[in-house]
Amino acid sequence: MINRRKFISAAAAAGMAGLIPKSLRSVNLPVSRAGGELPVIISTWKHGLPSNAAAMKVLKEGGSVLDAVEHGVRVPEGDPDIHSVGLGGYPDRDGRVTLDASIMGPDGNAGSVACIEHIVHPVSVARKVMEDTPHELLVGKGALLFALEQGFKQENLLTPAAEKAWKKWLVKAKYEPVINWENEPNKYHDTIGLLAVDKKGDVAGACTTSGMAFKMSGRVGDSPIIGAGLFVDNEVGAVTATGMGELVLKTLGSFLVVEFMRNGMSPQQACEAAVMRIVHKLPENKKFQVGYIAVNKNGETGGYSLQPGFDYAVYQDGENKLTDAKSYY
Ligand code: GLY
Repeated sequence: MINRRKFISAAAAAGMAGLIPKSLRSVNLPVSRAGGELPVIISTWKHGLPSNAAAMKVLKEGGSVLDAVEHGVRVPEGDPDIHSVGLGGYPDRDGRVTLDASIMGPDGNAGSVACIEHIVHPVSVARKVMEDTPHELLVGKGALLFALEQGFKQENLLTPAAEKAWKKWLVKAKYEPVINWENEPNKYHDTIGLLAVDKKGDVAGACTTSGMAFKMSGRVGDSPIIGAGLFVDNEVGAVTATGMGELVLKTLGSFLVVEFMRNGMSPQQACEAAVMRIVHKLPENKKFQVGYIAVNKNGETGGYSLQPGFDYAVYQDGENKLTDAKSYY
């Protein structure tokens, strides 16, 4: 059943833009045009805090907004204690660590890799795909061969801790994603998605993950799919997603949030409206977590999730802070 109170702010703005049926429109609340101090960096989960700090350092040292988002997400990619991104990520059911990543810049250019093995920093391979090939997405063995040609080092990403967790899982081998389960014991969950707006108002984003722990071999989530796990439009802003990628893929979530913002919603309203889209369209919404974060070109930020437990980090006005997202349930 629709929770009308939670639905109201998103519905109001969407109704103004003619984006939802008349029956679901509510009062005409004014659409926020507020902005925040630039630059601003926003990223998913607690691992967003050190990622934001690394990205801000790049901007302060005169690096581009694209350099900032890439270097920001390289922090959790290289941290073996984060079991949902890069080195130390939990493997698939066959014990292979396969990674997905994407990056998108202010010029609308984008690059991705999916199901790539043995490379600690898939986001940097995604950037190479974007800058040095005519393509947007390389997968599996082809992505690895490309990375090696580009000089990336082949490494074993399955750490002893991740291997131990996989062997424990194998005892029952029950294939059932559980909401926020990666939160325990380290409170590090899922994808790192990081968005930045520099002081000129240029926007970029990056997103990288080892995907669902113990997934089926070959499973690819939303993170490397431009428009699903990440979308940037330099006229509007940027969005990234975390959680159960299948729900984000089925609703093309990040593109949807950007389009809601283009039509007048604030980042917060737009994230809420995209979560509502999942609630209306996908009956499996009750079983899974999805979270969106968004920033507009003015530096206004927002975040919202299906289930409680999602947090995101915002670095703005000299402060790098973690915020608990509001949720539909
Ligand atoms: N959101 C990450 C994934 O589903 O793979």
